[in-house]
Amino acid sequence: MSVQQVNDKQRVALHAAARVQHDMIVGLGTGSTANYFIAELARKKREEGLNITTVASSVVSTRIAEQMGLDLVAIEHLSNIDLYVDGADEVSPQMALLKGRGSDLVREKLLAKASDQFFVLVDNSKLVERIGENYPIPIEVAPFCWQLVLKSVQQIGGEGMLRANGDGLAVSSHGSLILDMTFDVGINSQDLNDQLNAIPGIVEHGIFEQLATAIFIGENEQVTQQLK
Ligand code: A5P
Repeated sequence: MSVQQVNDKQRVALHAAARVQHDMIVGLGTGSTANYFIAELARKKREEGLNITTVASSVVSTRIAEQMGLDLVAIEHLSNIDLYVDGADEVSPQMALLKGRGSDLVREKLLAKASDQFFVLVDNSKLVERIGENYPIPIEVAPFCWQLVLKSVQQIGGEGMLRANGDGLAVSSHGSLILDMTFDVGINSQDLNDQLNAIPGIVEHGIFEQLATAIFIGENEQVTQQLK
């Protein structure tokens, strides 16, 4: 790939892939930026003999990794991951993240928590002053109690509804529904994280506090980084 053909998302993906070492267990993210990272790992395996095991954060990234010939292990066989690399929907100046447009929040947060290092790949369109600026907060909820959860989330100021998928509803890979909720601009992500963590019936939500080790930002043909 020539330098001229590389866009900002690819550039951060290549930057992260250069930090992957032999024998690592690597978590694979979901989305267009993570796809560039997966493709680069596959290239390094093919052309440079990179020996790694991967674990996917979604059905989509499982399929892509399989098609590209990466060795995958199921999440249930792991208790620790060396490195997780994924995109994000928003990144705050305090390195809080909003994730979950791809619906598999619980898998993404499990990988982020289980990993020794979590690299987040974004272009500058993802940088926000506060979490929730550009997108609602995704909340993964057990289907049988979604109305009770919706009421609890409304009681802390949330507004929103179940995420649609075509004529039906969006469903995570293990059968949860997704609420997309907006909150008053006055609530900070740390307080909201604590409040959502305390609501029964929420499987997981898209605020990732204190989990990223490094944010790699692709901007003006450069990669800048923000470290924990
Ligand atoms: C997936 O659920 C999200 O958390 C993604 O990381 C996010 O949507 C990033 O997607 P892009 O890399 O395509 O912007």
